[in-house]
Amino acid sequence: MSAELAVVGLGYVGLPLARRACEAGLGVVGLDISAAVADGLTAGRSHIGDIGDAEVRAMRAAGFRASTDPAMLTGARTVVICVPTGLAADRTPDLGPLTAAVRTVARHLAPGTLVCVESTSHPGTTEEIVRPLLEESGLRAGEDFHLAYSPERIDPGNERFSFRTTPKIVSGCTTLCAKHAEGFYQQLVDEVVVASGTREAEMAKLLENAYRYVNIALADEAALYCGQVGIDIWEVLRCAGTKPFGFAPFRPGPGVGGHCVPVDPRYLMARAEQQDFTFRTLDAARDVLDAMPGHVTDRACRLLRENGTEPAGARVTLFGVAYKAGVSDVRESPAFPVARALRASGARLAYHDPRVDRFVVDGVPVPRRASPEDACADSDLVLVLQDEDDYRAFAWDRAACLVLDTRGTARGTRVTRL
Ligand SMILES: NC(=O)c1ccc[n+]([C@@H]2O[C@H](COP(=O)([O-])OP(=O)(O)OC[C@H]3O[C@@H](n4cnc5c(N)ncnc54)[C@H](O)[C@@H]3O)[C@@H](O)[C@H]2O)c1
Repeated sequence: MSAELAVVGLGYVGLPLARRACEAGLGVVGLDISAAVADGLTAGRSHIGDIGDAEVRAMRAAGFRASTDPAMLTGARTVVICVPTGLAADRTPDLGPLTAAVRTVARHLAPGTLVCVESTSHPGTTEEIVRPLLEESGLRAGEDFHLAYSPERIDPGNERFSFRTTPKIVSGCTTLCAKHAEGFYQQLVDEVVVASGTREAEMAKLLENAYRYVNIALADEAALYCGQVGIDIWEVLRCAGTKPFGFAPFRPGPGVGGHCVPVDPRYLMARAEQQDFTFRTLDAARDVLDAMPGHVTDRACRLLRENGTEPAGARVTLFGVAYKAGVSDVRESPAFPVARALRASGARLAYHDPRVDRFVVDGVPVPRRASPEDACADSDLVLVLQDEDDYRAFAWDRAACLVLDTRGTARGTRVTRL
């Protein structure tokens, strides 16, 4: 039997969408190029932190099927594309997975289908890249099939806002395409916001993440300035954060990570550059953010030396190597450049993270410490990179080693804060 929904790309975005659609009673199938992903889901195993094995088993019981076989798409009434839009080795946008997925969809496109892209990309992607590829099928967008764009706003690890309760922006190549997309997502979320066009919806997503990018850079730069002139940045943030309007608090740290915040602004900058426009705020933010892991590493080495230990040979343990607290995802984590720089200075590295089982930097695994207590007992310096609950609750005064906290939550006589 043909599915009501086919999800292409079953990762952090696609799997929660498929799960919500199953819960809403839709017949759902999923296509992924990774056999490990498709086979794992078929066997009832989740590979995504926010979704447990029991939820995958419930999806399977509701009829969900995952496969690497594109024939899965045949006859699906709605196809939603959730494949990665990351960066190539030279840090420029890599639209390869998206165009590959769209070509696959085009080969199985039937009249009347709604195709919706959720992958983040620059304004114009749906009209200028996705549409022509789909029309190679011989079918016309807006006439024979409906083409829509709906950015995903999922926030992994966020227990307050779920897929259902986060308003969903939808847009279409025509008013009718948008109407179909609106009708589809109304089955899944509490609020649908219809944008006037696909470029507006694409830009809205990039602006949301550019906003975080710029404000994190501002907090980081304020921390560097305060550190230099002897002002306590954490006290500044505590005070400024009491303003009930006009100020959204962002906290400094070792840099930004994850699949979105450090990546999406680069899609916007690259596109703007092609259009002879320079995004100066984003350029400046990138310079600040890219330098943060180096600042943190320099500070760690200085702290060791000030306390009579040379970085070469020092035992340094990184606390929190995921890109943010509460998740197991290490993609683009600032822990990688920090680890590289510390290794280059000769430090002997270890890590602790409550959710990350393996941390491999440039092909070389970093040893994992079982608990914060073990890590402190076996380190000259602990470098806190993420604000995990475990670290907030930890009795830092009992730690015999030096502690450099880049998140401002550790307290104790041996703790130095960024
Ligand atoms: N992760 C987030 O928090 C988040 C939030 C909002 C938006 N997004 C955006 O959503 C998109 C997907 O991100 P993600 O984090 O889910 O990625 P992901 O890497 O977790 O998952 C993508 C999946 O797509 C599969 N895939 C790759 N190419 C494919 C193809 N041609 N056909 C079928 N499957 C293919 C991969 O094997 C993988 O399982 C990206 O554009 C990202 O920017 C991500």
